[in-house]
Amino acid sequence: MKTDVLQVDSHSIGAFTTTDQGQDLLDELHVSLNSDPAAEHIKRAADQLRASTVPVAFPTETVYGLGADATRSEAVRGIYAAKQRPSDNPLIVHFASLHQLRALLRHSGTEEVPLTEKDALDDPIPLIYHPLIRQFWPGPLTIILPTPQNSQLAPEVTAGLSTFGARIPRHPIALALIELAGVPIAAPSANASTKPSPTAAEHVLVDLDGRIETIIDGGPCAVGVESTVVDGLSSPPSILRPGGISIEQLRSCPGWESVEIGYHDAAERDSRPKAPGMKYRHYSPKAPVILYESNQSAPDWEVLSRTASTSGAIGLLRSRHWRLEAVDAANVISSARRPHTESNGFSSQSVRHSGFAGMLAAGEEYAKQLEVNKVKRSVQGKTITIYDIELGHRADDIARGIFAALRKLDQHSVDAIFVEGIDDSEDDLAAAVMNRLRKAAERTV
Ligand code: TXA
Ligand code: MG
Repeated sequence: MKTDVLQVDSHSIGAFTTTDQGQDLLDELHVSLNSDPAAEHIKRAADQLRASTVPVAFPTETVYGLGADATRSEAVRGIYAAKQRPSDNPLIVHFASLHQLRALLRHSGTEEVPLTEKDALDDPIPLIYHPLIRQFWPGPLTIILPTPQNSQLAPEVTAGLSTFGARIPRHPIALALIELAGVPIAAPSANASTKPSPTAAEHVLVDLDGRIETIIDGGPCAVGVESTVVDGLSSPPSILRPGGISIEQLRSCPGWESVEIGYHDAAERDSRPKAPGMKYRHYSPKAPVILYESNQSAPDWEVLSRTASTSGAIGLLRSRHWRLEAVDAANVISSARRPHTESNGFSSQSVRHSGFAGMLAAGEEYAKQLEVNKVKRSVQGKTITIYDIELGHRADDIARGIFAALRKLDQHSVDAIFVEGIDDSEDDLAAAVMNRLRKAAERTV
């Protein structure tokens, strides 16, 4: 199978809202395709989504997704086949509008249920979610909904559960594609199973070349980690996966004041750096990831050298505090090189309030700055080569760069990647980064 990468300038797609304060801002969301090549490419991909059993990769503001028509079993099975992932994980279903989501929730069996006047007033989306939707959609938030009886959703999407995850993404290409396809789109991250999630089209190509027909390249992702998943059907509501929306932001919404953390990795902290295990691999580059929690001191040269094979290469991912001391004058790494996006640009903490253009620019600006520094050092007669990446200080910048950085280090065939963790108690995005890193460094018990 030949894999085509279709370039689409994300900025050429008009995605705008006619109101900023509306009750249901999403109902006012419009996507328009202004430029011919963009429109043509997106239409081609939308046709494939409607008709083919081979999934299509496309950008979202979090990570690249591998999409399929969520109403056709054989199309959804194509996702698992391309990713080579077991099909026991429920998938998130993506919508372009509240209208589309409500239609799915109201639809039962093969016939659209005729709307009585009362139904039209009754919103099939549970009330608990309304403040979140108003606040965070379109954006990096997934809500858990009851699967309607005789649902149109293919059973492979829900993995047998009576609930499903729904999200309206904020990326204009994703919105345009779903709207043109006219069907809800099931989409996990577009990486091969076990690999770090893709935040650029080339990451998808490395993993899925020859396994899918189409990748839409819309540039680097702005958020960099997957959406926050919340369950408002349980009481109290809970966060099932940390992502781009912070717990404080959730708590500020009516009904969500006592939202609980429903994932477990924070409790797994212990006093030693986390070394990889054999049992699970998730978010994992080829090289083993050795994760240092934020309260642990950095590895010294001897530790790095011991881990490297003879004249081996080591990867280093630094964020806030780790320094590479002067190795030789030419190779002093200055902290001024930490990539960053302008603080007045898009931050996923203010995702709802930043424009589409600002959001896209933040991803692009950051990706340009993310580079690998190469440093050689002799330790007790052994020469090691350090491939070093600085991710930045801010949690949103670290989130933007983390998966791309792991992949960059893999390209240098490093023996191991030492990662400087950050304090996950400061906000949900930091928690999201540490959640993914702990999985990448998972140890067998
Ligand atoms: O940012 C994202 O959410 C990306 C982009 C592509 O939109 N998508 C993504 O999808 O990460 P996926 O399918 O890999 O996410 C699946 C996760 C599951 O591991 C689980 O945490 C949650 O979503 N999930 C989905 N359906 C669920 C359900 N019915 N109950 C509980 N959790 C569910
Ligand atoms: Mg994934």
